[in-house]
Amino acid sequence: MFSALLLSWYDAHKRALPFRGTKDPYRIWVSEIMLQQTRTETVAGYYSRFLDRFPDVFALADAPEEDVLKCWEGLGYYSRARNLHKAAKAVTEQYGGKFPADLEKLRALPGVGNYTAAAVASIAFDLPAPAMDGNLTRVLSRFHGIRQDVDIPAVKRRLADLGREDMPDTRCGDFNQALMDLGATVCTPGTPDCEVCPLRPLCNAYHEGDAETLPIKAAAKPPKEIQMAVALITCQGRIWMNQRKETLLKNLWVYHLTENDENRQDMEKAIKALGIRASYTSGLGSARHIFTHRVWNMTLYHYEAASAECREGRFVTLNEMNALPIPTAMKAAKEQAAKLLMPTDAKEGENKA
Ligand code: ADE
Repeated sequence: MFSALLLSWYDAHKRALPFRGTKDPYRIWVSEIMLQQTRTETVAGYYSRFLDRFPDVFALADAPEEDVLKCWEGLGYYSRARNLHKAAKAVTEQYGGKFPADLEKLRALPGVGNYTAAAVASIAFDLPAPAMDGNLTRVLSRFHGIRQDVDIPAVKRRLADLGREDMPDTRCGDFNQALMDLGATVCTPGTPDCEVCPLRPLCNAYHEGDAETLPIKAAAKPPKEIQMAVALITCQGRIWMNQRKETLLKNLWVYHLTENDENRQDMEKAIKALGIRASYTSGLGSARHIFTHRVWNMTLYHYEAASAECREGRFVTLNEMNALPIPTAMKAAKEQAAKLLMPTDAKEGENKA
């Protein structure tokens, strides 16, 4: 009954999304990884560009990681791109380029968790696995009246069991996507539009009148505020950049970053330790970037180096900089860097325009 009501609603109201209408597991997998932490509207543009550049799993597996990161630039959560690349290699090496129609084998690929494995298995192979994302969690907790914290593992398992029980024998992928669409357009967080919901006659929370308060979640911890000094170190039309080694933004290219430096001393020591002889020129304002668990409050400084010598990283031209994968956290710094690297006559032209 649940699935019959849901699927007839889906047939009439499904969203026309660019990644729908394919059974190709590669394309479905790429879209589901992109959709993990990113809105469907944002994914649309990236999805078609990514597939133009990497049309199949072999093209992705053969590409250098830097090209994959460049294609991902601006989407955030870059470990998704690094894992996508690793998983493409695994699919070509272990399965001859053919995605396995098996939940556990999909789950074993880098970056593929329960959600993604279930989404690919159900949409590409019609396997009965509920893709438990935020939408399914919300719809199922309201429908079945689950009034416990949905982040508790036992409650999560219970919701997934309910999802499996509600799932039809065929159209498993449509079932999952129908719940996602219902969650995104009708059974929304906050105030759901119960009047138009196909599941209303059977919905526990609707009858109890507490749909707005579900699902129950413990309050999230606020992200940690971090002060960050950003040095733009130029030398004769080039700027110093380095590839990050830290887990956050790993392998992306950034300017010189120093955490928790109030008075530039630590930053200047660190610059010296890289073998760069540079002197302070001016302040370049500030910027703020919010990650999931931390916030960078950045103060930007300009330094001019006496020579392009350095033990690590490299001095790059404006064109080289623009070809590197640079995270959105560096947006303000990159704009300042572009201004610093622009030839003087171009800058004058810009002022006149
Ligand atoms: N969010 C993540 N995957 C989705 C899909 N396949 N359809 C709709 N929304 C989604």
